[in-house]
Amino acid sequence: KKDEIILAIETSCDETAAAVIKNGREILANVVASQIESHKRFGGVVPEIASRHHVEQITIVLEEALAQAGITIKDIDAIAVTEGPGLVGALLVGVNAAKALAFAHNIPLVSVHHIAGHIYANRFVKEMEFPLLALVVSGGHTELVLMKEHGSYEVIGETRDDAVGEAYDKVARQLNLPYPGGPHIDRLAQKGQVSIELPRAWLEKDSYDFSFSGLKSAVINTLHNAKQRGEEIKPEDLAASFQESVIDVLVTKTKQAAKENRVKQVLLAGGVAANKGLRTELEKAFKDTDIELVIPPLYLCTDNAAMIGAAASIELAKGKRAGLDLNGTPGLNL
Ligand code: KG4
Ligand code: ZN
Repeated sequence: KKDEIILAIETSCDETAAAVIKNGREILANVVASQIESHKRFGGVVPEIASRHHVEQITIVLEEALAQAGITIKDIDAIAVTEGPGLVGALLVGVNAAKALAFAHNIPLVSVHHIAGHIYANRFVKEMEFPLLALVVSGGHTELVLMKEHGSYEVIGETRDDAVGEAYDKVARQLNLPYPGGPHIDRLAQKGQVSIELPRAWLEKDSYDFSFSGLKSAVINTLHNAKQRGEEIKPEDLAASFQESVIDVLVTKTKQAAKENRVKQVLLAGGVAANKGLRTELEKAFKDTDIELVIPPLYLCTDNAAMIGAAASIELAKGKRAGLDLNGTPGLNL
């Protein structure tokens, strides 16, 4: 049987990315052009600037991916692209590039959900075994997703307010750390003491939903009150205390959901999967269980197109195709 070669595109937020994936699990090329430097001075992603950068970068990134893989567009069996969720102006750049290539070269087009992509990043590490539970933690999402087979997603828990990464970035801003703040808080936390009492939102008993805005506000209040009293708070202690609160809730709920649903694997996905504390605590939590924990390497945790190609391979096998009327869908459901 002939190899399946997918050219994948991802432009949902602030990375312009293209990848070439062989048979769903082998990376032939993985190119990511990050815009972080352009958004830093605004303390977050500016949608208009993101779209403009995608337009400038997309062709370069696509050509680079084909060159890295040592192939031409003629060797491609399908074009995959992130349909949503994300910033609409950013999504549209990728979607239109994908449609243009599919139309001009008469190649099948496959649309992918961004979160499905994050989950499928794990397939480069380990073949999936069902049922499995994915903990998706990124700048825009905090979800527990139960999968009973390829391409089927049941969201059993999600955040009711801030996403984890968003909470990290907002707390980092209070501590005058640069954007994105997650990695800075993570690093500070390793040096600090868990000495400040902060809340944990467990919500209703048996709920797998999350809430992080209360914790974020508690951090802001702690800083504010200390300033008024002229007391000094060590940023590393605040970071360590905040991080412990976040991880405690994430790990406890993930373990409970994994047991209740008798899953074979737990997959970690999304940008916050880079968090050292989270990785360590999850490893501890599943060490003495018969549940296998899978964590992708850092470069596959943050936004990239390789993961979109991996998820697209499953869609393609199921016979799913997108039409040339494909649109970017900012609020796409999993
Ligand atoms: O998945 P991602 O690259 O983009 C989205 O789809 O949102 O995730 C980016 C988020 C940012 O909020 C960033 O601060 C956070 O992931 N992040 C981290 C770490 N590295 C990245 N948060 C905590 N600890 C880290 N080490
Ligand atoms: Zn993402």
